[in-house]
Amino acid sequence: MLRFRTGSLATTINPDDPVNGLPSVEVTVYPYECDAYGHMNQAAYLLLFERARWDALARGPGQDVFRRHGVWPAVRRATVDYQAPAFPGDVLRVDSEVQKVGGSSLEMRQRATRIRDDALVAELQILFVMIDEAGNSTPMPPEVAAVFGARPTARPGEMARHDVGDVTLAVDVRGDGPALLLVHGFPLDHSMWAHQVATLARWRRIAPDLRGAGASDAPAGGYSMASYADDLARLLDRFHVERAVVVGLSMGGYVAFEMLRRHRQRFMGLVLIDSRADADGPAQRQARDEMIEVARSRGAAAVAERLVPRLLGRSTQQTQPNIVEQVMTMVARTPVAGLVGALSAMRDRPDSTALLPGIDVPTLVVVGAEDEVTPPATARAMASAIPSATLTTIAGAGHLAPLEAPTAVTRVIAEFLEALPRP
Ligand code: MLT
Repeated sequence: MLRFRTGSLATTINPDDPVNGLPSVEVTVYPYECDAYGHMNQAAYLLLFERARWDALARGPGQDVFRRHGVWPAVRRATVDYQAPAFPGDVLRVDSEVQKVGGSSLEMRQRATRIRDDALVAELQILFVMIDEAGNSTPMPPEVAAVFGARPTARPGEMARHDVGDVTLAVDVRGDGPALLLVHGFPLDHSMWAHQVATLARWRRIAPDLRGAGASDAPAGGYSMASYADDLARLLDRFHVERAVVVGLSMGGYVAFEMLRRHRQRFMGLVLIDSRADADGPAQRQARDEMIEVARSRGAAAVAERLVPRLLGRSTQQTQPNIVEQVMTMVARTPVAGLVGALSAMRDRPDSTALLPGIDVPTLVVVGAEDEVTPPATARAMASAIPSATLTTIAGAGHLAPLEAPTAVTRVIAEFLEALPRP
């Protein structure tokens, strides 16, 4: 046990608990923070970590927490350890861990991890001493100490788990504001939305793993568009969310159509990315059955080998090997029961074409210019059948546009969200 005493307050920190007085935040690397080769220098890192601390305070006790108590945290020592290069536009998650708390000092470690590939780019070890207006070291006021005390925060990368009936779903939930429900495609998981979840501030981003995907339960049966849609409606109930903007990628779009059929009142808006409304024809149904056989007999890695080259655009395959690897890994870790379940659910899904003219919520259709699974012509036809839908084509991206061209996709979603009437 580590105990620290500040004035009248004694806080106990169990070493087994995450000692994390500040929430994790995401910061974007700006061009002016990098040198001529795109790498960040020491001064830039110090500023970036500082920005993250103030952002974290703004989300918690307020940035005036020190002034309110007549103290100021003066930096006495700071060391940056470089681990990997960082470039303009990279979104970094900064986790801050309080390591030691003395009567008037505080030692903290901050870690910056790139969201896109989970690479640790830098760590900062920093020591603060509380000073008063005259610049003298002063005891830490109890409320300030409490800000940095142990709290039951999720460990970095840990997902919340929510029971939605016969399954428990793993869910990445971040931010406040109107809800944005991000529904992944097949055979993927919530992590495909990393950039959107990290950057669409002012929205409550809810990115679940569907049943059978990622870290959610993967029962042997019970997969259909209806069960996926009902799971998500129950998940919104769990979060007391009445209405959300539903964003679906490919199979996520099929789930969104089923939600429209069954839970129409839950929609504030709809974003369909690399998706389609029509059902499988005989050839696709046969291909689903063959893939089910591959999954059962040879496992998820074999499914990844067959599918991934079709999912990613040629530009991505030529220029972004890290994305190819990320998607291979994501597919290969999908439970076989989930693969088989999703393939049969897609094979048996109803045709949603007749639904399109009746969609009366603001709708955005997005498609990768190099998408061969749901090509631009399909997206164009779908968008023109939905009254008031707008269509955006993303250059250089294939079927997984939010992963392949994250900045461009996030920007069009953000513009769409900005234009929505606020509830
Ligand atoms: C997806 O990305 O969800 C799948 O490619 C959809 C499909 O196979 O129909």
